[in-house]
Amino acid sequence: MRIKLSILAFIIGPVLVVAIGWQVSMAQEEQYILAHEDVFGNLRRPQVAFSHENHAETLEDAGCGVCHHTPDDKTGQLISIEGDERSCKQCHGFQKERSTPALREAYHGNCTGCHRSQKRSGNLNSGPTTCGGCHRKT
Ligand code: HEC
Ligand code: HEC
Ligand code: HEC
Ligand code: HEC
Repeated sequence: MRIKLSILAFIIGPVLVVAIGWQVSMAQEEQYILAHEDVFGNLRRPQVAFSHENHAETLEDAGCGVCHHTPDDKTGQLISIEGDERSCKQCHGFQKERSTPALREAYHGNCTGCHRSQKRSGNLNSGPTTCGGCHRKT
């Protein structure tokens, strides 16, 4: 009986690991249509199509932490915790709160900030930096 159980664990173990890994990798969409009317109310600009897959691939070396962060419990410093990537609006609201920027500024700081610095460093394929480049009329 003992032997059989350990054989069972030997077979089920890896299957579980693969299944859980698959679920984690499935938690993110290939593309997000960013239109957070729940935070912004009626949008003043057209919604933003954001390819998560392209970005995650292009920025693979920089890692998920170039966009996703969490304040450290003790120091308050922003750190990146693998597997705990959340929607920005969970912490960034309509208005700035103490040192936490408002959601619009969080997106602009992150998205436009990186595209600008890519452009400055001479990357020809840097991502849009003009309003209409991200807020595209459909
Ligand atoms: C690199 C991409 C990018 C650029 C460039 C950009 N934005 Fe945004 N902006 C976003 C994203 C993403 C959001 C969040 C949209 C959402 O979730 O609804 C946003 C949100 C907003 C919002 C709040 C939501 C709304 O529509 O009311 C306003 C207003 C806005 N942007 C105006 C501008 C203006 C004006 C410019 C040019 C000066 C600009 N943006 C440039 C990506 C960008
Ligand atoms: C260029 C910026 C960027 C990079 C790089 C990035 N993400 Fe994201 N991710 C986002 C944005 C923006 C969203 C949409 C969140 C929202 O609705 O505010 C998102 C959504 C997610 C979500 C869904 C969150 C939820 O609760 O809805 C997960 C999970 C996630 N990302 C994981 C990852 C992982 C893992 C990596 C690294 C392999 C990664 N992301 C790399 C910007 C990024
Ligand atoms: C778990 C909470 C949390 C989530 C989720 C979160 N943030 Fe933040 N973010 C913070 C806090 C807190 C600060 C302010 C840190 C400080 O005090 O300097 C901050 C600061 C920022 C800043 C300004 C500082 C900097 O790093 O340039 C930007 C930009 C930003 N966040 C963008 C984002 C984006 C984009 C997302 C989603 C992909 C996101 N944040 C998700 C908590 C969060
Ligand atoms: C750390 C750097 C970085 C951040 C952060 C970043 N981008 Fe980009 N983005 C790039 C680069 C590099 C490209 C060009 C290469 C490519 O297309 O993968 C790009 C391309 C794009 C494009 C044009 C190509 C496409 O995929 O449609 C859009 C639109 C875009 N980004 C929107 C966003 C939005 C919206 C955010 C914030 C939620 C964001 N980006 C955050 C680096 C970044």
